[in-house]
Amino acid sequence: MSEHQEFSRQDYYPNFAPYYDQIFDAVATDRNKIFNVTRQLIENMIPKPLTMLDLGTGTGGLLKEFRDDIEILVGLDSSSDMLEVAKTKLPEAEFIEGDMSDFNLDRKFDVIVCMFDAINHLKDIDRWEGLFASASRHLNRGGQFIFDTHTIASLSRLVTYKDGLSWPVGDGLYNYKARRSGLLLNEIIADFSLRPDTHDQVTNEITGQIREITFPLQEIRTRAAIHLHPLTSLDLNLASSLNKNGADFASDTSLRAMFVYTNKKETST
Ligand SMILES: C[S@@+](CC[C@H](N)C(=O)[O-])C[C@H]1O[C@@H](n2cnc3c(N)ncnc32)[C@H](O)[C@@H]1O
Repeated sequence: MSEHQEFSRQDYYPNFAPYYDQIFDAVATDRNKIFNVTRQLIENMIPKPLTMLDLGTGTGGLLKEFRDDIEILVGLDSSSDMLEVAKTKLPEAEFIEGDMSDFNLDRKFDVIVCMFDAINHLKDIDRWEGLFASASRHLNRGGQFIFDTHTIASLSRLVTYKDGLSWPVGDGLYNYKARRSGLLLNEIIADFSLRPDTHDQVTNEITGQIREITFPLQEIRTRAAIHLHPLTSLDLNLASSLNKNGADFASDTSLRAMFVYTNKKETST
């Protein structure tokens, strides 16, 4: 297990990495929408970006979406197992093992992204701020930093499924069950299991656990604004397209909130 793993039992990624893409296809039904909104946001601001950094890149799925459009693709993740899969899928990209809440790559990027709840793996708001500070140090002038996050509403919804949730994955069944972490409203612990082939009694069940945390959006905005300049936010469940009138702004009731930042003027180089 990577030395960067945050929690006492955050064993999901080492165990599930070989199955992550299959699982993601089955579970993340909104992923094309997220790719499209991300693409549209980038195009609106930077017509021809040359460089992209993906924080918490996992198996590099988002970078792969941009392989024909952006020349230099770099993914950073704390899980060597996820990166092994990413390297096979996208040999032309560069993958770096590291902690997205505190990194220094000694170069800058036109676009930095952190998507699909990756930020919710950072266990306290100081680490979130560390990610914002690190992202701001790595943004080219006029660059764009985009991230999405669970809200307290979306984490609260996940714990209402008392029997958990299940999806068919390949010939097997993938199970998810979340509970609150103690009395905290902004933190959940989710248990996962997968028997890759339900017909094969010999195949071992794979299990893993993830803790996810979020904060009131005002707190997130306050920490981000120390290092970055806000451009817009979106409620991804409402955003059918990018609403320039701001009707789709993220709120604490959004089920997926997305934020867009650029450099603060005084920190631009
Ligand atoms: C839900 S997955 C999202 C992966 C990817 N963004 C995608 O779109 O599929 C979260 C990823 O964040 C990574 N992660 C968790 N904590 C991290 C940290 N402190 N630094 C870097 N990556 C981290 C995990 O290893 C995992 O690959």
